[in-house]
Amino acid sequence: MKVTILQGGTEHLCDVADGETIADAASRIGINLLGACGGHGICNMCSRHVVSGIENILNLKTQKPTIHGDGYAPYARTCTAIPTKEGIVIDADRGTRLS
Ligand code: FES
Repeated sequence: MKVTILQGGTEHLCDVADGETIADAASRIGINLLGACGGHGICNMCSRHVVSGIENILNLKTQKPTIHGDGYAPYARTCTAIPTKEGIVIDADRGTRLS
């Protein structure tokens, strides 16, 4: 499955294996999305803006979509985000805990 990750004005096409999280797949292409908890779903530092395809992301732990937001933009915790369909675009430069 392919996920598009936007970072630093560049569009990266990332291969995500079945059952793999977006954060783990991104790390293979040199994009570190993980936060202080190292991918245990605790710190929320890996949450990133989902530009499109939020409905195609399953939370590994709850088996439901995990959405955080400011009321306008959806966010997903990438360390527990499993793609279920194509069409997902993640903005790595925009997160709930990024300054
Ligand atoms: S890395 Fe801490 S919640 Fe994802």
